[in-house]
Amino acid sequence: HLPVPNVQELAQAWNRSSEPVPEWYLRAEEEATADEVVAGGVIPVVDLSKLLDPQATEKELAKLGTACKQGFFQLINHGVPDEVLLDAKRDITEFFKLPLETKEVYKQLPDGLQGYGSAFVFSETQKLDWSNMLYLLLRPIELRDMRFWPAQPPSFRNSVDRYSAETAKVVSCLLRFLAVDMGVEQNRLLDIFGGQPQNMKVTYYPPCREAGKVMGVSSHTDASALTLLLHVNDVQGLQFRSDDGRWLNVEPIDRAFVVSVGDILEILSNGRYKSVEHRVVVHPSKQRISAAMFHQVDRSTTIGPLPELVEGGGVSRYRSVSHADFLKHFFATKFDGRKSHLDHY
Ligand code: SIN
Ligand code: FE2
Repeated sequence: HLPVPNVQELAQAWNRSSEPVPEWYLRAEEEATADEVVAGGVIPVVDLSKLLDPQATEKELAKLGTACKQGFFQLINHGVPDEVLLDAKRDITEFFKLPLETKEVYKQLPDGLQGYGSAFVFSETQKLDWSNMLYLLLRPIELRDMRFWPAQPPSFRNSVDRYSAETAKVVSCLLRFLAVDMGVEQNRLLDIFGGQPQNMKVTYYPPCREAGKVMGVSSHTDASALTLLLHVNDVQGLQFRSDDGRWLNVEPIDRAFVVSVGDILEILSNGRYKSVEHRVVVHPSKQRISAAMFHQVDRSTTIGPLPELVEGGGVSRYRSVSHADFLKHFFATKFDGRKSHLDHY
């Protein structure tokens, strides 16, 4: 992990200057072209209250299943109290307003991801993302490392703790419905993922007066099973790659989660669900803040298609490996320019 400039600070000075975009952040033109972007009316919306309503569950379950085959959807009426959402949003926003010295109390260590800093930087020739992040391991609770948890604003830790518990509940609920959609035993996914690691990445994207020349987060797929994303403010920027190669804008829905399938769920479902490439573009004059919750599996878990999905003459589309080996492969191929590392898995 190479030391890189703090983007929030850099952007503040640079936006007021007339300097060209610093080389480290400057993207090739084809990477940022706007004309292949389409509006996101096509992103499915799933209503969790309908899934839970016996009268409506069947129809909504079909929607959920179709959405996961596409790879992402927005989840509304998820039952997380407004107060929990608002407190988390407020404290995350306040954290990024703190002076750099205060934020750097929670700075990442040279060889670690947790804490305040930037996404993994592996080479001097890599293009850098126009963002800063705070990455925290939230669950299992006994593995929390409080050195990296901001004590400012004073309610931050409590807000994130409650947000963590509520989102973990939503995920458990979704996993039960996904198992039903996949045709496996109801608790099958819950038994694998329930009570498993939950990590949070909150990302701060400063505005960029030449927004089309930088990238907030480079195109990638998530190594998680499921990711739950909250728009901390209502600035759009997240884009998913559609089947025809164009980018779909996600238009934030107030209080909704953007749920996306990660690599682990794609593999477990034997390719039924898709872990879709996505990226974040930045705004010319507005900051953007998001909070992503990654639901993962234990290092000792074997990652491979569920045997019951392959039995009876089915074809296993992925190898089975330990989670540790899976992550090694993920990091080895993530940054070598391949569009989807699962194609080679
Ligand atoms: C990510 O996928 O890494 C971030 C998504 C977002 O900020 O919307
Ligand atoms: Fe992501």
